[in-house]
Amino acid sequence: MSKLHSLDPEIWKERRRNVLKKLRAPLLLRGATQTLRNGDVHYSFRQDSNFSYLCGFPEPDSLLLAIPEKTGDHKTILFVPPKNPSLEVWNGKREGVKGAIRNYGADEAYPVQEFWKIFQERSKGFDELGFALGMNKEFDDKLLQIFGQRLKGRPRDNRGLPTFIDPRPPINECRWIKSSYEIEQMQRACDITAQGHKVAMALSRPGLYEYEVQAEIEAVFRRAGSPRVGYDSIIASGNNANTLHYIQNNRKMRRGQLLLIDAGAEFGGYSGDVTRTFPVDGRFTEAQKTVYRIVLRCQKKCIRAVRPGCTFEKLNKIAQLELTKGLVELGILKGDYKTLREKGAFKPWFMHGLGHWLGMDVHDVGPETTKEGKPLPFRSGMVLTVEPGLYLPANDKRIPKEYRGIGIRIEDDVLVTRSGNRVLTADIPKEIQDIEEFCNS
Ligand code: GLY
Ligand code: MN
Ligand code: MN
Repeated sequence: MSKLHSLDPEIWKERRRNVLKKLRAPLLLRGATQTLRNGDVHYSFRQDSNFSYLCGFPEPDSLLLAIPEKTGDHKTILFVPPKNPSLEVWNGKREGVKGAIRNYGADEAYPVQEFWKIFQERSKGFDELGFALGMNKEFDDKLLQIFGQRLKGRPRDNRGLPTFIDPRPPINECRWIKSSYEIEQMQRACDITAQGHKVAMALSRPGLYEYEVQAEIEAVFRRAGSPRVGYDSIIASGNNANTLHYIQNNRKMRRGQLLLIDAGAEFGGYSGDVTRTFPVDGRFTEAQKTVYRIVLRCQKKCIRAVRPGCTFEKLNKIAQLELTKGLVELGILKGDYKTLREKGAFKPWFMHGLGHWLGMDVHDVGPETTKEGKPLPFRSGMVLTVEPGLYLPANDKRIPKEYRGIGIRIEDDVLVTRSGNRVLTADIPKEIQDIEEFCNS
């Protein structure tokens, strides 16, 4: 099995150091396990993002134990599938314990089968343990059993059980702020994503099936070295765009319809997440233009507001105000748009948030508020999506007839920089004129 990405192991060590500084306890992390799909065939495997982030080890069923030392440094122990020549004939090379030390910077490594025995030894002095309970009952039971036995051996001081601390919040805090290396990977994921969207925009035409467009866009991703999509591609023509997570992608595209494509390539462990909406036949109708302009105006206004100190709360307010104003312009809502926005009158037609964090996971880790419940101010190095939309279903009688069946979302990936922001996906047409020119060139 090849390495997930060719990082210097020092980078993972530095990440572990940062997490342990916040956690102030030993850390036990499980990698992703393989899941049977049927018989002896597994669902395609992707390593757990936190696990990748902290050690990069790509093989299933592995574990990481990082133990802080008095010197301020830490010891890293990996438990990995051992070398097994006959299994490797079937499933490819394994790193084995030697590879875990040589290529991933573990101080020690053992076959995963020895985990419980070794953990029992090494965890003797633990008063605290960073471990996410509640994810796997069988594993939790064994862990508690080990500490429970220790409790029996210390009936007087009752100090057998360590305090469990959820390690995900400190890991998440580190993952919010992307390093320059991570931004490079994200830019490549976004560039590949852009390439795919442009190909899809150029080839779409009436008579093609949505899955044919999906095949082309995903082929571009794959050819550019992306191992997989960051999420299931949404290729939604006409009224299908009003189903937010439409992934059937099995309808024939027709003249006069819009095509909403929400697709993102993964690269270097990071995901792009882009939506463009354009006419199947390369020409917007007047009604489509009217709705499109409202969503685009909103998206551009939100992007302009992204900078350190801005919050998702502020962005959502801008988006809701703009889109509510638009709904009034379209004759769908009547009244003062500010009052209507306060009442949430836009919700039937804009029912999702303006955006989310983006990184190793498409809906990346991280809250929108601080521990005190205040909106979390953006900081340079954070990456988010900006993705307003208007969804006007064909069967919604509150909507003037000419707008029914139109669904539009425009989504870009935005890096917060010290002086404002940088759009990582700026290279995909989104102005009406640019789209029409691009589709007809
Ligand atoms: N592609 C999923 C999303 O935009 O959130
Ligand atoms: Mn998306
Ligand atoms: Mn998104």
